[in-house]
Amino acid sequence: MTLTRSLKYRTMNVFHLPERVQMPRIVLFENIHASAREVFVAAGFDDVVTHAGALAGDALREALQGANAVGIRSRTHLDQALLADLPDLRAIGCFCIGTNQVDLEAAALRGIPVFNAPFSNTRSVAELVLGEAILLLRRIPEKNARVHEGFWDKTADGAYEARGKTLGIVGYGNIGSQVGILAESFGMRVIYHDIEAKLPLGNAHATSSLKKFLGQADVVTLHVPGGKDTANLIDAEAIAAMRPGSILINASRGTVVDIPALQRALKSGHLSGAAIDVFPTEPKSRDEALDSPLRGMHNVILTPHIGGSTQESQENIGREVAEKLKRFISSGTTKGAVNFPEISYHEQAGAARIIHIHQNVPGAMGALSNLMGEYGLNIVSQQLQTRGKIGYAITDVDGEATDQVIEGLRRHPITIRCDRV
Ligand code: NAI
Repeated sequence: MTLTRSLKYRTMNVFHLPERVQMPRIVLFENIHASAREVFVAAGFDDVVTHAGALAGDALREALQGANAVGIRSRTHLDQALLADLPDLRAIGCFCIGTNQVDLEAAALRGIPVFNAPFSNTRSVAELVLGEAILLLRRIPEKNARVHEGFWDKTADGAYEARGKTLGIVGYGNIGSQVGILAESFGMRVIYHDIEAKLPLGNAHATSSLKKFLGQADVVTLHVPGGKDTANLIDAEAIAAMRPGSILINASRGTVVDIPALQRALKSGHLSGAAIDVFPTEPKSRDEALDSPLRGMHNVILTPHIGGSTQESQENIGREVAEKLKRFISSGTTKGAVNFPEISYHEQAGAARIIHIHQNVPGAMGALSNLMGEYGLNIVSQQLQTRGKIGYAITDVDGEATDQVIEGLRRHPITIRCDRV
């Protein structure tokens, strides 16, 4: 830690206050929601620097000098070379879902856990999906376009209520299961297909065969992860297995649907409509147009990957990631870290808490315990987790964990990072 202030004392409800409160410098980029700052300030961490946009190159390097924690969204890239220039950095918060913008392995090898917000926008996605299902069942996108074009096609043809229809959810995880709950409140029958056994919520039913499942649903909505296992999961064959006149919604990952096959099915009338929020290739900036054969089709709702983008989700993300960073800084907790051994929160026992990140090699814990003994520290409680090349130990000790002791632990060849929290 570089910033150590001995005069500032704050009351924290949850965490034990060490004798000298260490004030971390936290640097936030990309308009992270004010809820994050509120979490830090409430914890007594009021050295928070915010930048409205993303920075790159030397400007980013300079902005991060002396930072102990950094908060970014998707446009700030933290690569190996940059991390090597930031010796004070202890934790990274990705205030979003994705963490590809950070070299996770390099961060772990430098003893830096990376946190994200995997659940904060679940509800936002689920609500959008339900809204789209209702609009498409009523053929609203086409009707809306016709009225704008000067026509008045007042007809009930092809328009249906959601009540009593079957919603098929592919991927019954955080989002899929929420969609199911909301759909039931509209009187829909819910079925789902997942590669893992999942506890059905409400009256939902699991279906083991994807093909059978597709033939039963009036609306199919996709909530699976991206990657090669789900690439083109909904291909021409799967689309052919869907009910004539049914609807497809994809707010998961763009690679999951074969878009040309979908376009053909929409054109032929085999599917009556679709709502697509994610695409195999997405524009890189707001001025770039989406390149997709679905553009211009009036029975298709196209949205720019905003399934999870609401004010509420931004606020939740701000709070969720800031809480994780706060907990790590205050107590060493790494629960929810995406690249690091995870240790859950437990109350400090003993006079001091030492966090020790080390190479995951035989004898590491013996060496750590011996060193602590040599410095007159008595271990009261200890937790260890390992992941790949990294071992992480939180040790609560009685005795004086002075700067000298911490420096001594840092000097040991197995040590990657050592701090007192
Ligand atoms: P999750 O990990 O909680 O759930 C995914 C589920 O899919 C799991 O139950 C898993 O077992 C299942 N699954 C995996 N492979 C499968 C397969 N081949 N067939 C059937 N089921 C399979 O994920 P979560 O949080 O519900 O997110 C779902 C998707 O939504 C992800 O792709 C995520 O990236 C995307 N997402 C999109 C957003 C947007 O803005 N449009 C916002 C947030 C998430």
